[in-house]
Amino acid sequence: MPIFEADTVIKQYRQYDATITAVNRVSLKVEDGEFVAIIGASGSGKSTFLHICAGLEKADYGSVKIRGNDLMKMGKDELSRFRGLYTGFIFQKHNLIPQFTALENILIPTVMCRKESYRYEEHLKKLISMLGLSDRLNHLPSELSGGQQQRVAIARALINRPQVLFADEPTGNLDRENADEVLALLLETKKSIGQTLLMVTHDLTIAEHADRIFKMDNGKLRLFRDRDGTYRRNSDEEAVSKSKM
Ligand SMILES: Nc1ncnc2c1ncn2[C@@H]1O[C@H](COP(=O)(O)OP(=O)(O)OP(=O)(O)O)[C@@H](O)[C@H]1O
Ligand SMILES: [Mg+2]
Repeated sequence: MPIFEADTVIKQYRQYDATITAVNRVSLKVEDGEFVAIIGASGSGKSTFLHICAGLEKADYGSVKIRGNDLMKMGKDELSRFRGLYTGFIFQKHNLIPQFTALENILIPTVMCRKESYRYEEHLKKLISMLGLSDRLNHLPSELSGGQQQRVAIARALINRPQVLFADEPTGNLDRENADEVLALLLETKKSIGQTLLMVTHDLTIAEHADRIFKMDNGKLRLFRDRDGTYRRNSDEEAVSKSKM
């Protein structure tokens, strides 16, 4: 059974007289431990879809299941608890709490959703050192650079060792070197706890590390590169070799 399953998800926004279909009948199955990357132009619906996948936003239609549990059918409290126990989310815009220090921000998930018998201290030390945050722990988000804020958001998403990690442009504000280090950290976590990773990224160098790459185009999601490395164009049926891309 796939660990993650979205079925015919539709999300529309109404503004004045216009209706924007941000997500248009999108279905996606992700296997346990798989790394799926989603690429696509700005405004194509990537963040909206990822938020729905993680239960942060409600779809107008369709279902989203994690470990067979339908997020759309859960009440608010049940959903918060479920998300805290099984998922982590790295936001495109960090979403750090401005009044909390870097360290307090990182520790929020451990307070909100305590996993029984899980001792996070060792993991915390490792995250702080790998993300180069040791000398910034007592800074407020406003006293951190964009890249440092992003790294705090990454540590916060990983502190509870979530089974499914959703990441929206996790390396968007980082230079090549830091982006590669963050990718290495995500791949290591993925390997060590068998984590499933759904990542939106503009960075093809990062997307290339995924098992499968999907492309969002005007609210539609299409397979772009399959597990065996085959690139596809226009439709799921039409496979093309990499040399033709
Ligand atoms: N709250 C909202 N109200 C109205 N329209 C919205 C809202 N959120 C998103 N949209 C619209 O939905 C579409 C998809 O937005 P989304 O943020 O998902 O794009 P994206 O692919 O993540 O883009 P980017 O790469 O720039 O982050 C856009 O046209 C956007 O303007
Ligand atoms: Mg986005």
